[in-house]
Amino acid sequence: MTMPVDPAGFRQAMARFPGAVTIVTSLTPEGERRGITATAVASVTADPPSLLVCLNRKTGTCAAVAQTGRFVVNLLPGDGGDIALCFAGVGGASGEAKFKVGDWREDEHGLPVLQGAVVSLSCTVSESLIAGTHQVVIGQITHIRVGAEVEAPAPLVYEQSRFHRLAPI
Ligand SMILES: Cc1cc2nc3c(=O)[nH]c(=O)nc-3n(C[C@H](O)[C@H](O)[C@H](O)COP(=O)(O)O)c2cc1C
Repeated sequence: MTMPVDPAGFRQAMARFPGAVTIVTSLTPEGERRGITATAVASVTADPPSLLVCLNRKTGTCAAVAQTGRFVVNLLPGDGGDIALCFAGVGGASGEAKFKVGDWREDEHGLPVLQGAVVSLSCTVSESLIAGTHQVVIGQITHIRVGAEVEAPAPLVYEQSRFHRLAPI
């Protein structure tokens, strides 16, 4: 079956790609927390250790990252579906109000880190470019926090518009 090459066809095609579900967080210059659910996160290079995130330019998180040059990628555990929905805006929470869901701590620079995340990666922006509606942000990793080493929680995965717990075959 061929699909039209338009935004709807693109969304249907990309929905087949399973994505690890993260919460990308930042702080505004005034110190308010911002965060969104994001699956557009990828490894870039181990030297220097870097990753990229794609952030909708309309979001407060994108603005905070652009203004302060810092963000954190928090990989959700399999039971983090309620956090993912809240930070995707489902239920209507926005800005600081999203952080009522989840146990949030602070990293070395005061940015929100999720207690219980599979891994949390604090980053400083090294490069950034506009791609249509989104900002592609490359971050150099400054701190790595890995959750429970014994029986590490399986991550939350999004595919075909549904959340899944990753399980070994
Ligand atoms: C599973 C899932 C993955 C998402 N991935 C991204 C992403 O990678 N980048 C992005 O900008 N928005 C992504 N979104 C949408 C944002 O989470 C949503 O637009 C954002 O929470 C809106 O926040 P606001 O209402 O505070 O602006 C995703 C949503 C879901 C449900």
